[in-house]
Amino acid sequence: MDDLINQPQTESLAASNQPAGRPTAGRKVYVETYGCQMNEADTEIVLSLMNREGYQPTNSIETADVVFLNTCSVRDNAEQRIHGRLNHIAFHKKKKPEMVVGVLGCMAERLRRKLIHEGSIVDVVVGPDEYRALPELVNEAQFGTKGLAVKLSRVETYDDVTPLRTEGISAWLSVMRGCDKFCTFCVVPFTRGRERSRSMESIVQEVEGLAKHGFRELTLLGQNVNSYRWEGRDFADLLAAVADVDPLMRIRYTTSHPQDMSDKLIETMASRKNICNYIHLPVQSGSNRVLQLMNRTYTIEHYLERIASIHALIPNVSMSTDIIAGFPTETDDDHRQTIELIKQVRYDGAYMFKYSPRENTKAWAMGDSVPEEVKSARLAEIIDVQRTIAEENNQRHVGTIEEVLVDGESKKDASEWKGRTDTNKVVIFRHGDEQVGEYVNVKIHRGTAATLFGSIVDAEGRPKEFPIELAVVG
Ligand code: 5AD
Ligand code: SF4
Repeated sequence: MDDLINQPQTESLAASNQPAGRPTAGRKVYVETYGCQMNEADTEIVLSLMNREGYQPTNSIETADVVFLNTCSVRDNAEQRIHGRLNHIAFHKKKKPEMVVGVLGCMAERLRRKLIHEGSIVDVVVGPDEYRALPELVNEAQFGTKGLAVKLSRVETYDDVTPLRTEGISAWLSVMRGCDKFCTFCVVPFTRGRERSRSMESIVQEVEGLAKHGFRELTLLGQNVNSYRWEGRDFADLLAAVADVDPLMRIRYTTSHPQDMSDKLIETMASRKNICNYIHLPVQSGSNRVLQLMNRTYTIEHYLERIASIHALIPNVSMSTDIIAGFPTETDDDHRQTIELIKQVRYDGAYMFKYSPRENTKAWAMGDSVPEEVKSARLAEIIDVQRTIAEENNQRHVGTIEEVLVDGESKKDASEWKGRTDTNKVVIFRHGDEQVGEYVNVKIHRGTAATLFGSIVDAEGRPKEFPIELAVVG
């Protein structure tokens, strides 16, 4: 790993006469974000760093002076999407040649110089630990000097950068960066570097600021939050401190590693009402043989024991997971064990993927032995079983009253609100006079695998308006 960290420093790829710099005030930056929530949070850090230099965020590529793609490398199809997107951006750049195009994030870290080859429209390539270099590299790019900054750091946490959060009542907050787990299929330890934690004091201070500004929901982020450590305190201590800032602010977190899901963390979740009853606990496979090949460092027995402890302490908990279909050498029997596990745990949600070989990972050397059509068939079965279970789970909510945080208009119909339960379920219900950021009681009338539908009731459970089905018919 050490050689990864000693990559070349920020460098310019063409000789330049050190430009004096163009005025940046009023210039506009447009960012598209791909991949995980860590990338969403990083985009807000990038916007903040650019804003310090006078750049304003814009939602339209046409008005942008600078266009960034914050990228993901976790699977090959994520990277293919970015190549497609760059072809589209080339069309804009033709019309506006002075526009600076940057590739940021994991793909920048992985592909580096390959992205700024001769004739490429990409001007700057900047990895996840080098965002502080962005304004300078963009400035140089305006004078035709392409820039590359991909050094990984053992210490960078952007602790002093307040993310530029542009809208909504929900905020992301990265509490640690990088990952030391080295699951054999995963490129993240290579693209995001070694684990490091942000100071607990600065996190709590930022949460106090968010509470003052009316944020109602906060998700603490890290590739493996259980590894958070700061001056003898662990993630459970951090979670408690953050939850105590404002009892009206809901706290979520992601992602946990099953090996490190401690009793203390589960107890802390149970001890505070505003820590959401929702846990994302990636299992990846139901087969111990495959888990070992993946270097996941736990067994299914351990995983199920953790789930039992979670249920014992947090009775209405909602659970989700990540699953990979078709890891090298996965047999029909391994796959069957994954299906059995899904049926046993009865997840409320899952992110399900076909295995995608990533260069330089240990699994890369294992080959890609499961044929594409077998992978596809296994993934389809996993999705099908999981969807049925999620739908059945959601039927259990019909007739119950849920406390829902209103987070905006429903995409399909502006007369409906969209909100979330504490257990992270999306609820759609008809508008009343309530505001975004308010908590309301919603009686659930029906549920699909992904969504609950209901209507607002008062504190005694009496309807405040027509149920949504009546509204639609009328
Ligand atoms: N192929 C398929 N899925 C992957 N993931 C990570 N690497 C790969 C890969 N090479 C999935 C894992 C992880 C999630 C973020 O992405 O399930 O938990
Ligand atoms: Fe990748 Fe494993 Fe780290 Fe998650 S825990 S980021 S899957 S190496």
